[in-house]
Amino acid sequence: MANTYIIKGKNPLQGEVQISGSKNAALGIIAAAMVVDGPSVIENLPKIKDIKILLEICQELGAKIEWLSENSIRFDPTTVNTYQAISKKVSKIRGSYYLLGAFLGKYHKVSLLMPGGCDFGARPIDLHIKGFQALGGDELKDEDGVISIKAGRLRGAGVFLDTVSVGATINIMLAAVKAEGITVINNAAKEPHIVDVANFLNTMGANIRGAGTDVIKITGKPYLAANRSYTIIPDQIEAGTYMIMAAMTNGDLTCKNLIPKHMEPLTAKLIEMGAIVEEGADSIRVMLMPGEKLKAASFKTMPYPGFPTDLQPQTTALLTVANGTGRMIESVWENRFQYIKELQAMGANIVTSGRLAVVQGAELQGTTVFARDLRAGAAMVTAGLGAEGETIVTNVYAIERGYEDFVEKLLAVGADIREE
Ligand code: EPZ
Repeated sequence: MANTYIIKGKNPLQGEVQISGSKNAALGIIAAAMVVDGPSVIENLPKIKDIKILLEICQELGAKIEWLSENSIRFDPTTVNTYQAISKKVSKIRGSYYLLGAFLGKYHKVSLLMPGGCDFGARPIDLHIKGFQALGGDELKDEDGVISIKAGRLRGAGVFLDTVSVGATINIMLAAVKAEGITVINNAAKEPHIVDVANFLNTMGANIRGAGTDVIKITGKPYLAANRSYTIIPDQIEAGTYMIMAAMTNGDLTCKNLIPKHMEPLTAKLIEMGAIVEEGADSIRVMLMPGEKLKAASFKTMPYPGFPTDLQPQTTALLTVANGTGRMIESVWENRFQYIKELQAMGANIVTSGRLAVVQGAELQGTTVFARDLRAGAAMVTAGLGAEGETIVTNVYAIERGYEDFVEKLLAVGADIREE
């Protein structure tokens, strides 16, 4: 298994890149496939480490998974024989926390080893727990990092999320589809993957209305027949990463199989920075006029439809080579600038103060940098593609958790990158 990427910068990315299925939708949908009462077929599943780990966890719990093709599975939860997900694997990924809602809905009880995931400050789950409590669940914590929740009866209720949370919205939805009566989630997250998980559940027989708005209404049902196929949406963040890389390299790249609407927060900013962005029905082409230099811009990450925090590191990498002074405010996570010292090692001119990074355009020079988490790792590769000389990115496991066939896709559009 590769641990390092070696990149020679300055090659323009040109041609077409196919966008894979959404990681964060897939994590929610696999958990949703556990809640329903029959097998389902899940298509456009990205073959990445986080998904493989979640599928292995489901198998350990008794689910039967059959690969039908490279990116589709038949998922049968009828053989699951426990409500306890407490193996070490569970703590390796963040997405395993969706088993909390799934098992609470299915069995009215669940025990889960606290999930891991990327480190960018505190990652509390108080809002998930608050939602479960509103539905009738009692939280019992034990000392080995295992969370246990039990509900005598699971009853629909009104839930207000003080902070917009993707995870809490999906988790509450997963439990509420099996609760008695109606659940209303107020101040719900609106990310495309929330809508995708709701659409999956509705396809399998659930009754969820309003996903994609900030009020989601779920009418619980005791039995969800399933026995249907569902295709996962394209990955908004993977698409955004390639769009940014196209701008970084003065390339001419068409990202195929995406939903242009999901890309609007990024598209608008790339145009502001001087890139040409052409939208097709399910594709986006990003290029720069010959001799054109990107201009700096100001960004603030926000829940959808705002600028996604998961594109923040890659965008900051892009700002390092733009003309002028750019600003990045990270308003979702308390500590998501830890990768900036790696960019500084490449010559980037960045000053941070709390959640603000001020970036003065400069020339990047390749050096050895560390992929400290998934999107930070993608930012290192973005920087390497735009830098003079050779960039060595270490710990690329972190990147492969979330990008399908990353090196293959980059090679096919002209990047000089190799694994070691
Ligand atoms: C999801 O994380 C994504 N992960 C993250 O993507 C993404 O950065 C994040 O949403 C925001 O878009 C998955 O979908 C697996 P949140 P999640 O709950 O659900 C606070 C990637 O790179 N909060 O929306 O864990 C929290 O501290 C990953 O693909 C509470 O206060 O994020 C944060 O400030 C990294 N209490 C804010 O809400 C809670 O109970 C948003 O977090 C829950 C969250």
